[in-house]
Amino acid sequence: LNIIHIAAEMAPIAKVGGLGDVVCGLSKALQRKGHLVEIILPKYDCMQYDCISDLKVLDVVLQSYFDGQLFKNKIWVGTVEGLPVYFIEPDHPAKFFWRGQLYGEHDDFKRFSYFSRAALELLYLSGKKPNIIHCHDWHTAFVAPLYWEIYATRGFNSARICFTCHNFEYQGVAPAPELALCGLDVHHLHRPDRMQDNSAHDKVNPIKGAIVYSNIVTTVSPTYAQEVRSVEGGRGLQETLNYHSRKFVGILNGIDTGAWNPSTDNFLKVQYSPDDLQGKAQNKETLRKHLKLSTSETFQPLVGCITRLVPQKGVHLIRHAIYRTLELGGQFVLLGSSPVPHIQREFEGIANHFQSDPHVRLLLKYDEVLSHSIYAATDMLIIPSLFEPCGLTQMIAMRYGSVPIVRSTGGLNDSVFDIDDDSVPVQFRNGFKFVTADEQGLSQSMERAFSYYLRSPESWQQLVQKVMRMDFSWDTSAAQYEELYEKAVARARASKN
Ligand code: ADP
Ligand code: GLC
Repeated sequence: LNIIHIAAEMAPIAKVGGLGDVVCGLSKALQRKGHLVEIILPKYDCMQYDCISDLKVLDVVLQSYFDGQLFKNKIWVGTVEGLPVYFIEPDHPAKFFWRGQLYGEHDDFKRFSYFSRAALELLYLSGKKPNIIHCHDWHTAFVAPLYWEIYATRGFNSARICFTCHNFEYQGVAPAPELALCGLDVHHLHRPDRMQDNSAHDKVNPIKGAIVYSNIVTTVSPTYAQEVRSVEGGRGLQETLNYHSRKFVGILNGIDTGAWNPSTDNFLKVQYSPDDLQGKAQNKETLRKHLKLSTSETFQPLVGCITRLVPQKGVHLIRHAIYRTLELGGQFVLLGSSPVPHIQREFEGIANHFQSDPHVRLLLKYDEVLSHSIYAATDMLIIPSLFEPCGLTQMIAMRYGSVPIVRSTGGLNDSVFDIDDDSVPVQFRNGFKFVTADEQGLSQSMERAFSYYLRSPESWQQLVQKVMRMDFSWDTSAAQYEELYEKAVARARASKN
């Protein structure tokens, strides 16, 4: 198949969170299966340009519509992780992608509706004949209505649209008239069965538009797919999802096991594998020294947390975990930053408080290299999310032999199985899980993890080896996407004949 991903993030060049990992990892897995996979991204100023090879500007000028005018765009092409990537650079006075950050701008709705329109224009004019156009999250959700309302009527209609929602918390809702900027007909679309927001009736909802207009709608784990169909989890979209349930499915993400591999990871001081865990101990020692944590006790659990500090991640529980770790005699290292000023300030306060404590370090920043060292050095990784569409850190942690302690929600529920859960076959049990999102639930699972750790080094080592050997590669999930794509393409062919 010829598959095009249109997205706002792609690891390692433009990544804020798991979306970037997924766009890259899924594309690589589909490419390995023999499909032609290409990606379209905005040309941000703040990309990791050193990870793009053969970047060059194409000898074409793409004109795309926005707000009643045509704007010129430069089109760049390069290779990222072996994948062909097109970058759109608009010649627009607002300098949409020249802002020093991917998101969080006052005009994000404009920036990404512009990009969605230009990406489709690129496909239309290039004469490419994709079988599947796969868009992700609200930033590129506009692609689905634009494709069927505008491009299909121009004869560009052979592709099927797949939309993946990575997080229903972010819906990109905006005043209805703004939809007209990218050329969509507001009167036609601002209706309850199309893009009108289910609660704010004077607004439009890009995610709703993608659910209505796409041929395939997915989210990133089976449990989350269930959760969002309920009033508590659906954030106003439950009725829309229930109405369109036949095309909606949850597929658990994988991780890029090439990029996340402790036996080849160049960011690590020492590489290691489940057959030789000596290197893991050395990484722990190195990180403790680097962060000026006490190294006087060798058999002291080191707990990590690597996260965006947003309410979704259970920030009050993360704070509790720091104090509980100290009470239980462990050490704690947090790597995370927050786009929410009061949360960032709160954690800066905690970081200062523990500045000279030999057992706690808070690193309030985004740091890819350090994240690898922390996955490798820690014995346990804590993820007490209030909700979690999929979550990748628990899978990466396991790959590096850091045992996850998680709240059973969304994809955490589908990938972590409690050591003490007799209803699960022993070979699948790989972590510690709690149900109620409160301090007591978290404390109890931490206590169980600590007592397992302290019981005997041998049994802990066996657990570490077991979680490292688990398969969280993209292979299984990519095969599920492939099946959905092929069915959609077959249905399209059948309806033409
Ligand atoms: P989300 O997408 O909701 O942030 P995921 O668990 O799906 O959560 O993905 C998070 C990704 O971002 C992982 O690859 C994780 O290692 C990375 N990450 C999160 N915070 C940081 C940070 N402060 N520094 C480096 N990497 C981070
Ligand atoms: C979102 C979700 C996270 C998921 C990621 C990749 O950021 O918050 O749970 O793993 O997307 O799908």
